[in-house]
Amino acid sequence: MKIAIGSDHAGYKMKALLAEHLRLKGTAEVKDMGPEDDSVSTDYPDMACRVGEAVARGDADRGILICGTGVGMSIAANKIPGVYAALCCDAETARYSRLHNNSNVLALGGRILPPEKALEILDIWISTDFEGGRHSRRLYKIAACEQKSGSGSSLGEKGKTVVFDHPLVQHKVSMVRNKNTSVKEFRELVQEIAGLMVYEITRNLPLAPVKVETPLAVTEAYAIEGKKLAIIPVLRAGLGMVDGILQLVPNAKVGHIGLYRDPETLLPVEYYCKLPGDICDRDILILDPMLATGGSASAAIDLVKSRGGKKVSLVCIIAAPEGVSKVHSDHPDVDIYSAALDSHLNDHGYIVPGLGDAGDRLFGTK
Ligand code: RB5
Repeated sequence: MKIAIGSDHAGYKMKALLAEHLRLKGTAEVKDMGPEDDSVSTDYPDMACRVGEAVARGDADRGILICGTGVGMSIAANKIPGVYAALCCDAETARYSRLHNNSNVLALGGRILPPEKALEILDIWISTDFEGGRHSRRLYKIAACEQKSGSGSSLGEKGKTVVFDHPLVQHKVSMVRNKNTSVKEFRELVQEIAGLMVYEITRNLPLAPVKVETPLAVTEAYAIEGKKLAIIPVLRAGLGMVDGILQLVPNAKVGHIGLYRDPETLLPVEYYCKLPGDICDRDILILDPMLATGGSASAAIDLVKSRGGKKVSLVCIIAAPEGVSKVHSDHPDVDIYSAALDSHLNDHGYIVPGLGDAGDRLFGTK
């Protein structure tokens, strides 16, 4: 594990102590980012940014920041997208900040903590692993909040997860979850949700100026530039999202992917794939209402990429943390858009609370 450590003048002595302790233990590679001594008063935000950015970029796995109280360092470091800084004054908080919050930066108060207490906190924090499960969902929600506030341009070039919190989307998601919603309503709602999502997903499509003659004058307006969109439903449930998107983007090309799960290997196997010829030039939205284990979504993305697809996003109605992790680890460049992020998968691989089997509910086949 690589650890970046830094302080201001008030945290310098504790930084020296902790860095030496880590080096002696030999469990981590320590990068001391300064200062070299405490003869000059320094501003804690400068060091919080240096260490925080090293962690957010992936240059360090974790960071340690020490100022007088730890408060300034934690506030400043938490402004950096991808940094989860925990200010800890006791070992129990440090332990839970790893178990539940997956904190990647530890902030400590050099003027507050006795040295032996700081060492105890450090050892627990270093040796405790993130628990995952329901806590992953909460972290994805923090990441979604970063995206929403416009600060989510993480320094690393990783794909993002966007969970739609728009009231209209959330309202309709509650209705599709309801087991008493009829097939007709379910179908309509899935189309509506997909349409609302694509309105937001396409926010950054590039525009080019075009000349338009109105009944009164010739003017310059804007049209979407280039080859535009391809939407690719994964059969069969993905079909339920197509029309809602085509209503807004009627010129999008539509590809189709069919996958089934081999009953013996449990791996997804392709049985159909027909994609637009110019797929490599298009922004691609792969549609699958349920992102459960992520196995078929990841295989669908593999397939699209192997046929030349470059700019790929995955659009779902409900995602499970397990599926999000799988897709991000297999395809770190792919953005995931989902109307909701649920708790977990049950033993049969169904998303809980979810909405049941989207294909059956769309086509009335249950
Ligand atoms: C420096 O005097 C002090 O304000 C700083 O180290 C830190 O405690 C701020 O939160």
